[in-house]
Amino acid sequence: MTRPRLYSGMQPSADSLQIGNYIGALLQWRDLQEAYEAFFSVVDLHALTQPNDPAELRAKTRRTAAQYIAAGIEPSKSTLYVQSHVAAHAQLQWVLATLTGFGEAGRMTQFKDKSQRYGADATNVGLFTYPVLMAADILLYQTDIVPVGDDQKQHVELTRDLAERFNARYGKAFTVPTPVIQKETARIYDLQNPTAKMSKSAESDAGVLWLLDDPAVSAKKVMRAVTDSEGSVRYDRENKPGVSNLLVIYAALTGRQIPSIEDEYAGRGYGDFKKGLAEVVVGEFGPVRQRALELLDDPAELDRLLAANAAKADEVAEATLADVYDKVGLLRRV
Ligand code: TYM
Repeated sequence: MTRPRLYSGMQPSADSLQIGNYIGALLQWRDLQEAYEAFFSVVDLHALTQPNDPAELRAKTRRTAAQYIAAGIEPSKSTLYVQSHVAAHAQLQWVLATLTGFGEAGRMTQFKDKSQRYGADATNVGLFTYPVLMAADILLYQTDIVPVGDDQKQHVELTRDLAERFNARYGKAFTVPTPVIQKETARIYDLQNPTAKMSKSAESDAGVLWLLDDPAVSAKKVMRAVTDSEGSVRYDRENKPGVSNLLVIYAALTGRQIPSIEDEYAGRGYGDFKKGLAEVVVGEFGPVRQRALELLDDPAELDRLLAANAAKADEVAEATLADVYDKVGLLRRV
């Protein structure tokens, strides 16, 4: 029986993933890898759109892959590989770029935010075509679903548009993918600034929970998270963004429902609630961190595993690329 396909990826843009990546994406990936034929990439080509030290980029790429495995992605079940190891990504990106409107790419909100933040001169063309490369990632694998946090939704919608456009113009080469976004956990907020998305590139470290941080540091960050003056542990996104964010994290990591956590802490202060959450975070991250560090102790073994998985990815990707090249009329090399 063939299983439907799943594709997702993360940028190796920091030494560690943050809890938003873990809850918004990795936990879904881990659960979905049973029912789907899954492809998970470390998107190092995308990371080149930011300034990088070459040695650090290599290290971050391994660290990201190690965290996928440590969090439960099984490289024997799923295809876990590094994007630049499969040449077809950059090749399909070019073809798709010729189908993407200049205005269409310019309307991507992540591009608009970043180019506004850094200014036109500091904004590279790679940042502009970033979503087109992402579309190539997804479309090469005839992907049915793309589990992501909500900041990636617009990019998956562009991917759908490009797939439909190509199929209509040249004949069907691509499955049209569907984004899968968990409503409650689609956006985890910064602990110090609970109306801003938690991000690997946050300006201050105090509001970001890193998967690979020392557990004592993570516990301290939870204890110092911004709340409010009401004192009751109650979910109310509008008026209590800090407490609501902590409740979402608590629920996601324990698999419990928010009302049952509210009940448990009814009549108790934020101190108790945060202590409880700190224990949950440390309990969850501790083993993941330990496993990731063990994997990183043997980089040669990790590299071999990534190479074997890249070979599996290559096979699927090359078949799609060959079909696309044929359909658009590139002369076959005989
Ligand atoms: P990236 O590396 O920024 O984030 C990886 C995943 O984590 C999710 N995420 C969050 N979810 C909830 N709350 C948060 N605060 C939070 N921060 C991040 C993201 O939505 C994402 O699912 N462009 C992508 C990488 C990519 C990709 C792909 C994804 C490249 N090609 C193909 C899917 C399919 C990115 O930069 O994700």
